[in-house]
Amino acid sequence: NGNYVVTMIPGDGIGPEISKAVEDIFTAAKVPIEWEYADVTPLLRNGKTVIPDEAYHSIHKNKIALKGPLATPIGKGHVSLNLTLRRTFNLYANVRPCRSIPGYETPYKDVNTVLIRENTEGEYSGIEHEVVDGVMQSIKLITKPASTRVARFAFAYAAMTGRNHVTVVHKANIMKLSDGLFLQACQEVAREYPNVRFDDVLLDRACLQIVQDPNQYAHTVMVMPNLYGDILSDLGAGLIGGLGLTPSGNIGRDASIFESVHGSAPDIAGQNKANPSALLLSSTMMLRHMRLFEQADSIENALLNTISEGKFRTGDLGGKASTTEFTDAVIKNLA
Ligand code: IPM
Ligand code: MN
Repeated sequence: NGNYVVTMIPGDGIGPEISKAVEDIFTAAKVPIEWEYADVTPLLRNGKTVIPDEAYHSIHKNKIALKGPLATPIGKGHVSLNLTLRRTFNLYANVRPCRSIPGYETPYKDVNTVLIRENTEGEYSGIEHEVVDGVMQSIKLITKPASTRVARFAFAYAAMTGRNHVTVVHKANIMKLSDGLFLQACQEVAREYPNVRFDDVLLDRACLQIVQDPNQYAHTVMVMPNLYGDILSDLGAGLIGGLGLTPSGNIGRDASIFESVHGSAPDIAGQNKANPSALLLSSTMMLRHMRLFEQADSIENALLNTISEGKFRTGDLGGKASTTEFTDAVIKNLA
């Protein structure tokens, strides 16, 4: 029927509630896509955590997915399924925009940066050993091809969006080999983009600067190894009003998965309290990726207007609205 088919992974905890909100808003906005549901539960095969075949085939076929949060056990248990998905589909660039929401005041004004996180290796490579009793080793793996690939993505993104400024975030003063290689890869790619301004900053200094005055990073694209991107994106979320507001896109050559940066929030799951904004903003990133610009704009405007009107904010934003009241308000605001 001419519709796009997109895999929907509702996820754990608040996942089903916030993905239902997105579906209802998409239906109201007449977005020409059809959802194909996929459950992602951990599966152990030959000692390795894998995703179920049905979910794998759905994402492989559709090449595009929207996903809610998947719970990750701490300190034991299966490998995070979030990581397993990123690794399985080689989703090498994790794009995390961090923008102030007009009309939602925080102590920080006009935050507008985009983090691009290397998404396949670093401390997330999952290579860990007990060396001897009381000595553990987790390997941070940095390779030239993965570093160059994400650097190319960052520069292409900067050129395409007119940001024209790439800053690489690193600790090459300490990790001279691994971060040194990441930095070198970025420097080499920078030469292919003479019109894009390029510089580098140490991670600790970047954190200091960004909380003192995030405008120093307005209009830049910040590219960095995996773990730094994980940490800095939560820091960025803190500047604009929390994890209820920050979207992301995991981009690969053959597939892309869009998801909110937050977790499954089991403490408020099933209570109709969660803020669906982060997943909704991830879904509008997805629509732009699919070149459905009109629908993306109309949904995003409705969302921003709802938040800035202030009457139907969820608890995380200081309001009293339930997930469904907020969702209905967004639907009313659709052009
Ligand atoms: C994120 C999350 C994940 C990560 C967790 C849930 C595995 O915190 O997407 O930032 O650490 O990357
Ligand atoms: Mn994180």
